[in-house]
Amino acid sequence: ASDIQDDLTEVLVTEAEIHAKLDELADRIEADYVGEELLVVGVLRGAVMVMADLVRALDRHVEMDWMAVSSYGAGTKSSGVVKILKDLDTDISGRHVLIVEDIIDSGLTLDWLQRNLVGRGAASVEICALFRKPDAAKVEVDVRYVGFDIPNAFVVGYGLDYAEKYRNLRDVGVLAPHVYS
Ligand code: PRP
Ligand code: MN
Ligand code: MG
Repeated sequence: ASDIQDDLTEVLVTEAEIHAKLDELADRIEADYVGEELLVVGVLRGAVMVMADLVRALDRHVEMDWMAVSSYGAGTKSSGVVKILKDLDTDISGRHVLIVEDIIDSGLTLDWLQRNLVGRGAASVEICALFRKPDAAKVEVDVRYVGFDIPNAFVVGYGLDYAEKYRNLRDVGVLAPHVYS
C-alpha cells in the first residue's frame, strides 16, 4: 500500500497523546531523581522514538546509552532466552539506571534485562515503558513508569514494528489482518 495508514484498523494512541504522557512521565522522573546523576538506557530498536522524545521532555542532564537484545529466537513468540546483541558502552556500577522501552508484552525481555543490569552493581535500575499489555504478561515486571495499558492486539507505530516496518508511524495503531494473513 502506498499509504501506511491504510494498514491500520484503528488508531489506539495518537502522537499528541503520546507526547502529553511523556511530559507527565518526565515530570515524575525529574522529581524522583533530584540531585542524582541519571543514565538512561534505550533498548534497540523499538525504544528509539520513546527515548528521543522522553529525554527531550526532561529538563535536566542525562547520559544516554543503548543496548540491543534478542528474545525471539526463530519463532514469533518470546522464548525468555535473551541474547545481548549490543551491550552498553558504560560501566553502570554505582549508577542510577533508567531502562526505556516501547512496550512490555510478555515481560520476559525486561525481566531479564533488569536482573542483568542489577547484577552489574547499579545503584538502582528502574523501568520506563510507554506501553504495556497486561493480558500478555508471562512475568510481572517491576516497572516504575508506564504510559498506557493497551489491549493484547497487534500494535505498530512509534517504534513498534511488524517485520521491521511501521516503526516510523507517528501514532500507534492496530495492524489490519490483511497485512499479515
Ligand atoms: C519488542 C519490544 C520489546 C519486547 C517486548 O522488541 O520492542 O523490546 O519486544 O516483548 P516481551 O515483553 O514479550 O519480551 P523486539 O524483540 O521485537 O525487537 P525490536 O525492538 O527491535 O522491534
Ligand atoms: Mn524491543
Ligand atoms: Mg520488534
